[in-house]
Amino acid sequence: MLIVCGLSWLLLSLPAQAKAVDAYVQRYLGVREAVPLVMNRQGETKLFSPAALSNGKRFFEDNCKNCHVGGTTLPDPTVPLSLDALKGATPPRDTVEGLVAFLRQPMVYDGSEETYACRAVPEHWLDSEEIENLAAFILRSAEKAPGWGSTTF
Ligand code: HEC
Repeated sequence: MLIVCGLSWLLLSLPAQAKAVDAYVQRYLGVREAVPLVMNRQGETKLFSPAALSNGKRFFEDNCKNCHVGGTTLPDPTVPLSLDALKGATPPRDTVEGLVAFLRQPMVYDGSEETYACRAVPEHWLDSEEIENLAAFILRSAEKAPGWGSTTF
């Protein structure tokens, strides 16, 4: 009992920043300090902190994971969140800005029309910084997480 109390006291007294970092982000995404991610076609990069990526992950788990567990797309397995699939979309979605554009207004894979199969993320739900964190989590996962977006079950 004493140990449990001592442990929760320790956790509560950690700075908010440290608590906010997710173990998966550190371990499987290899993010222990801010990492650069590609923002756009021009190749500009921006640094994302472990806490920012952890926020993106939490949002993904709460709102996207039902359909996209482990980077797959359960309702349509031919459009997973793997790097190759994101790259191959029109316009490509393998950058933070490309993903944000898609999430603000999801389009079918060839870009020809809107899709209502995915869940749009409007401004009043996530502001521009928060949605970038979500996109950064997806991009980093596509680059690093073992098995992310695999289509072989
Ligand atoms: C109800 C199921 C569902 C939910 C919830 C959902 N999606 Fe989707 N998502 C889909 C489907 C289906 C597609 C493929 C759509 C198409 O091509 O018409 C898709 C496509 C995508 C793609 C494009 C993948 C590629 O290879 O181009 C991304 C990125 C994405 N979703 C992210 C998200 C995020 C982030 C969330 C949470 C805010 C989310 N989705 C919530 C079903 C869902």
